[in-house]
Amino acid sequence: DETLEPPKYPWNHSGPLSSFDAAAIRRGHQVYKNVCASCHSMESIAYRNLVGVAYTEEEAKAMAEEEEVEDGPNEEGEMFTRPGRLSDHFPAPYPNDEAARYANNGALPPDLSYIVKARHHGEDYIFALLTGYRDPPEGVNIREGLNYNPYFVGGQIAMARALYDGAVEFDDGTPATTSQMAKDVVTFLAWASDPKQDERKKMGVQAIFTLSVLYIFALYTKRLRWSLYK
Ligand code: HEM
Repeated sequence: DETLEPPKYPWNHSGPLSSFDAAAIRRGHQVYKNVCASCHSMESIAYRNLVGVAYTEEEAKAMAEEEEVEDGPNEEGEMFTRPGRLSDHFPAPYPNDEAARYANNGALPPDLSYIVKARHHGEDYIFALLTGYRDPPEGVNIREGLNYNPYFVGGQIAMARALYDGAVEFDDGTPATTSQMAKDVVTFLAWASDPKQDERKKMGVQAIFTLSVLYIFALYTKRLRWSLYK
């Protein structure tokens, strides 16, 4: 089969001492919201998760309030809609999997909450997939409703190319080229898959520092205590 291995890219957040690029998470969320969210849910992420990561509390609140959320039943036993709150999760584009498949030629757009962890080669794969659409090589027949992409298993994917230059307008003025949007949305998805990564790395550094101090102190004490003997 013709599947290509994705190249390895130097992600800002992949080193043992590197943290996520907050501006990239913010831009990536704008890409997700304006492009991917029309087909893909991210059920595990709530608006409050963005606070202090990519948006201020006011910004996240305002974004949540733009959504109409179904709630209830109220005291009369009726369902009702209300503006979204920080505690609401991102809205799903379809009411259920059947509706999602119906709208996508039978294919199911997977929930993207943990997609970076769920796919082999995580970030590198998704970046390569988003930027890898091209004309099929001669002699390759693309089945109806599918698109050629050499990074997808089997080379034919139900998702059409989603990113084109200028598809979004970033609020920090960064030019929205296809590869910039792909890099940023993958950074956002990597954060969503592992929001505690920065904290874990920081704790690792602190643990190594603390253990080093204790070790040096132990060595010193040992030499001091034993210096009269031998
Ligand atoms: C599949 C990401 C936009 C429809 C996927 C997969 C990823 C992904 C990672 C999984 C591929 C795999 O199984 O290995 C994204 C991102 C988007 C985006 C980051 C925005 C930049 C869209 C849009 C649509 C869509 C706008 C609908 C018009 C689908 C469908 C599949 C899929 C139907 C299933 C493909 C198959 O199994 O053949 N997408 N997607 N996606 N996506 Fe998207």
